[in-house]
This record gives sequence, structure tokens and C-alpha cells, in this order.
Amino acid sequence: MTVKFTLNGKEVELTSSGDTPLLWAIRDEIGLMGTKFGCGAGLCGACTVHLDGQPIRSCQTTISQVTGKSVHTIESLSLDASHPLQKAWIAHQVPQCGYCQSGQLMSAAALLAKNTQPSDSDIDAAMNGNLCRCGTYNRVRAAIKDAATEMRLHG
Ligand code: FES
Ligand code: FES
Repeated sequence: MTVKFTLNGKEVELTSSGDTPLLWAIRDEIGLMGTKFGCGAGLCGACTVHLDGQPIRSCQTTISQVTGKSVHTIESLSLDASHPLQKAWIAHQVPQCGYCQSGQLMSAAALLAKNTQPSDSDIDAAMNGNLCRCGTYNRVRAAIKDAATEMRLHG
């Protein structure tokens, strides 16, 4: 079976089985390693990517489900850490072990794409499924607020 979709704006074509998890395709077949495997069961959010702009768990999504659609990974934010979220993450020293952070950033990016003035409850709702065993939740929230401010001021 041939599966075609766009990944970070470029068309990709895979010949692997349609039930291959998107996470494996991204990491093992395409070679983008920013998206992480955590639980493999849809519970932790480490594998979060965007599907047509919505945050999804790539460990629970097959490549046949993304046929003809647009997928974005952490690599799409920027490669030089210039995205407002990346800058805020650095300023607040959010990552500790770092393992959950790709997923955290992608959930935050999906939130700010539709809401650049999120309340605490907006942030909590958007980030609810992204677990962090290092307890970076307060820094995540502060960084999202700073990034939102920069996006409002500078587009
Ligand atoms: S690895 Fe996908 S939700 Fe945990
Ligand atoms: S920074 Fe370690 S799990 Fe979140």
C-alpha cells in the first residue's frame, strides 16, 4: 500500500503497511527524531504532532489515517529556535530531562495558533494530556504566556 501525506510542508510517500503507527513512520522511516516515544498507549503526550493543525498522538494514529492530510512535527516550529515558544522555553529553562518537551511544545503551538490570549484554564485544558514526570507544569504555563505575548505584539 502507498500512503501519501505532507510532512512539515513536503509531500512524503510511504510503502509500509497502512496500520504502521505514524510515530514509527516519522522516526524510523523518515528519520525525524524530535517526536518522542513515551508510553505508546495514548496516555503521556510525548508523541504529539499536528494533524491538519490539531494536536494528535502519533503513537495512536496509523499512516492510513493521515493519507492526504498535513502533519507537522516539532521540527516545523523552527530549526534555529526562533519560534516564540522555543524562545520562551529557553528563557524559562522549561526542559529538565526534556523527554516530554517535544509533545509539550506541539500542544502549546496548537493552542497559540488559535488563541494568543489563553487564560490559565485554556492552558490547562490544552496541556492536560501532556504529562511531565519532572514537574515542569508551572514553567510550561509561564512560557506559554510569554510566547503568547510575543505573538500578539509581533505577530
Ligand atoms: S507515546 Fe504517544 S501518548 Fe505516550
Ligand atoms: S522534562 Fe522530564 S518528563 Fe518533562
